[in-house]
Amino acid sequence: MERLTPSAPVDPAPVDPAVFRDVLGAFASGITVLAATDPDGRPVGLACQSFASLSLDPPLVLICVGKGSSSWPAVRAAGRFGVSILDARQRAVCEALGRRGGDKFAGVEWETSAHGTVRITGALATVDCALDTVHEAGDHYLVTARVLELTARDGGSPLLYFRSDYATGAFG
Ligand SMILES: Cc1cc2nc3c(=O)[nH]c(=O)nc-3n(C[C@H](O)[C@H](O)[C@H](O)COP(=O)(O)O)c2cc1C
Repeated sequence: MERLTPSAPVDPAPVDPAVFRDVLGAFASGITVLAATDPDGRPVGLACQSFASLSLDPPLVLICVGKGSSSWPAVRAAGRFGVSILDARQRAVCEALGRRGGDKFAGVEWETSAHGTVRITGALATVDCALDTVHEAGDHYLVTARVLELTARDGGSPLLYFRSDYATGAFG
């Protein structure tokens, strides 16, 4: 992977992690759930706000996953996973999937797609994906995935995340 370097050496000032979180938290986003099934057919997944559209040709999406995620290895091993864009009414789903350990899917309604991916029932939209590339980027993996199928519900409003808190907005 090409890494761009400044022409003159720059000694960056150390970044305080709390300031980093505070300032970057001003960038509001929607929230998704990445999910697949393990070899026993059990759902595995995590809540993820670091999701973006990446390329139309070929159709790719971008996801950033923390290296500390205990669910990601199973999602990665599945090779295919669903990205469900959560509805404003799905805060509890986000909290369940954003927690480490326990039965993260207890009380969460989900279904499998024809691609074998896991979709969260009632999501605003779903993006079924096949894993494309995984790059190391600091304490995260930068993941690209090929889009297999897209679905979207009519209406609904997104669950938003802003400054470490949930927000909802009325749209349409
Ligand atoms: C609102 C919210 C957004 C999150 N966004 C991300 C993210 O973008 N990338 C990531 O790796 N983890 C993110 N997480 C944390 C994951 O859900 C995390 O992996 C999980 O809390 C730990 O469980 P695991 O060990 O099963 O992965 C987020 C959690 C919450 C609650």
